[in-house]
Amino acid sequence: MKKRLKFFMIGFWLVFLVSGCAYRHYMGMHGPSIKLYPDIHQQVAHEDSDCLKCHHPDQNPEGTPTTHPDFTGCLKCHNGEV
Ligand code: HEC
Ligand code: HEC
Repeated sequence: MKKRLKFFMIGFWLVFLVSGCAYRHYMGMHGPSIKLYPDIHQQVAHEDSDCLKCHHPDQNPEGTPTTHPDFTGCLKCHNGEV
């Protein structure tokens, strides 16, 4: 009985550590959030194509030109809380 508890504890810590690192890495991938400029972004931007209208480097963008127009799912990385 005691031994099983010990294994359980080790497994628990392993999962905790691994997911902890993965989470940090995920955080590290995040770019600046669109919520830094809520007035600009609130209404207009829900899809990648919307974002690129104002951020694609080849289209004389009114926002900061992005270095990565080929990425998909802009909001995965740019919708963080400020
Ligand atoms: C995998 C995560 C990820 C995705 C997906 C992503 N970005 Fe980014 N973005 C970043 C990171 C990290 C930065 C900051 C570092 C940099 O400048 O490359 C950034 C920076 C930016 C900037 C600031 C300009 C700059 O280069 O500093 C803009 C604008 C931008 N992204 C727009 C977009 C658009 C539009 C899309 C969708 C087509 C998009 N991003 C998709 C991670 C991402
Ligand atoms: C109506 C045009 C427009 C649309 C649509 C739009 N943006 Fe923006 N965006 C701007 C402007 C203008 C700024 C402010 C640039 C500045 O003043 O530095 C900005 C700023 C940003 C920044 C911060 C860049 C920096 O220099 O820190 C990011 C990141 C960004 N937008 C991502 C996005 C994403 C992702 C989408 C789609 C969900 C999107 N934007 C849709 C116009 C737009």
